[in-house]
Amino acid sequence: MSQMSQPPKQLKLAFFASGNGSNLQAILDACASSELDMSPQVVISNNSKAYALTRGQLAGIGSHHFSSKTHPHNLDQTILNTLLEHSVDLIVLVGYMKKLGDEILERFRGRVLNIHPALLPEFGGHGMYGLKVHQAVVAAGATHSGATVHLVDSEYDTGPILSQARIPLSSGETPESLAAKVLALEHRLLVETLQKIASGELELEGLKT
Ligand code: GAR
Repeated sequence: MSQMSQPPKQLKLAFFASGNGSNLQAILDACASSELDMSPQVVISNNSKAYALTRGQLAGIGSHHFSSKTHPHNLDQTILNTLLEHSVDLIVLVGYMKKLGDEILERFRGRVLNIHPALLPEFGGHGMYGLKVHQAVVAAGATHSGATVHLVDSEYDTGPILSQARIPLSSGETPESLAAKVLALEHRLLVETLQKIASGELELEGLKT
C-alpha cells in the first residue's frame, strides 16, 4: 500500500506592530482569501493606540498591548507565554519599533521575519524606520529603493535577507511619494515571501526542528 504524504503543516503566525498595520492587513487579507495558507493567531503591540490592534480584533485574532508600562517586571515573559499559548510557529514584525527580548529571539531563532522599507543593507539600522528611511534614500540621491524581508537577529535590520523588491525613483521623488510606492511593494513582497515559505519553496532552517 502506498503511503499518503503528509500535507504541509499550516503555520501559525504572530505579528508585532507599533502603528497602522497595513502590512499586517495585507497578510490577514491574503489568509482570509486563502491566497496564503497560514493561520494568523495574535497581534502584539507596544502602542495601545496602534491601529494594528484594531485590525487584529476585526480579524478575530488575539490582540494585545504589551509594553514596559503595562508589564514593567515581566514584559518578555508575558510576550513569550502568549506566543507559546498560541503555539506560534513564525513571528512577523510588521512595523515594530522595539527589539524583541533575547529569550524570545532564542526560542524563535530563525523564525522571526521583518519587513524593512529599503534595500538592506543600505538605509537600515537603529532609528531607521518609516519616513526617515525614505528621507535618507532621497537625500542620498539613490536611483532605486525597494523593500526587504529578512530574518531578525539581535541587531536592527542586520539578519539574513530572504527577499527584496526594487523600484526606480522618479524625477522629483519626495520621501512621501516614495513611501507610498514602497508600502504597496512591501505588501506584495511580504505575502509572496510567506507564500514561498508556506509552499516549501523557501525553507527556513528555524522551522525544521
Ligand atoms: C513599513 O513601511 C515597514 O517597512 C516599516 O514600518 C512601516 C509600517 O507600516 N518598518 C520599519 O521601518 C522597520 N525598520 P504599516 O504599519 O502600515 O505596516
